Amino acid sequence: MVELVSDSLFRFLAFMIKTRDILVNLGKVVDEIGIKQGTTVLDYGCGLGSFTIPAAKIVGEKGKVYALDIHPLALKRTKKKAQKNKLTNIEFIHSDCDTGLKDESVDVVLFYDMLASLLTPQKQLAEVYRILKPEGILCVKDVHSNDKILSTITEKDFFQLKNKGRKQFIFSKT
Ligand SMILES: C[S@@+](CC[C@H](N)C(=O)[O-])C[C@H]1O[C@@H](n2cnc3c(N)ncnc32)[C@H](O)[C@@H]1O
Repeated sequence: MVELVSDSLFRFLAFMIKTRDILVNLGKVVDEIGIKQGTTVLDYGCGLGSFTIPAAKIVGEKGKVYALDIHPLALKRTKKKAQKNKLTNIEFIHSDCDTGLKDESVDVVLFYDMLASLLTPQKQLAEVYRILKPEGILCVKDVHSNDKILSTITEKDFFQLKNKGRKQFIFSKT
């Protein structure tokens, strides 16, 4: 699967995400991580902002959420939601890998339903490793099997499993 899909395929994916969002309690997924006010979060592959928006509400004005996506339509839709919710603590990053963020500057990275679409996941995981604080966490949920998630995320010794929640895997830096 290519990483940057056509606009029409993205619109189809958007339909699938919206259907999922009706079935899944998005707030519960984010709550499980225990994000607090003032936290810095990177939503890697933010899609329609389904998790960007709840995270931005929790971290508040003292915190920051970076919403990164390869697809311009994803950023456009997430920006629209941010404006609708009057959220000013979200920054948008158009990228397929590099974040442009400082080393060890982020507390939490959300890697939700995007692992399976990556052709070279170790490239993106190396970037996540670089920008995560030493005590930072990488939160992963995906359509991949649990075994595949664990083997991919821990393949290069960047991350180790910290906790398996009900909704996701939580990894810490090695
Ligand atoms: C299935 S959607 C999931 C979106 C969101 N994380 C969620 O769970 O609602 C996957 C998203 O990852 C983005 N994506 C895929 N490959 C990417 C890459 N290499 N860099 C950044 N974003 C990427 C896609 O454009 C899409 O918006």
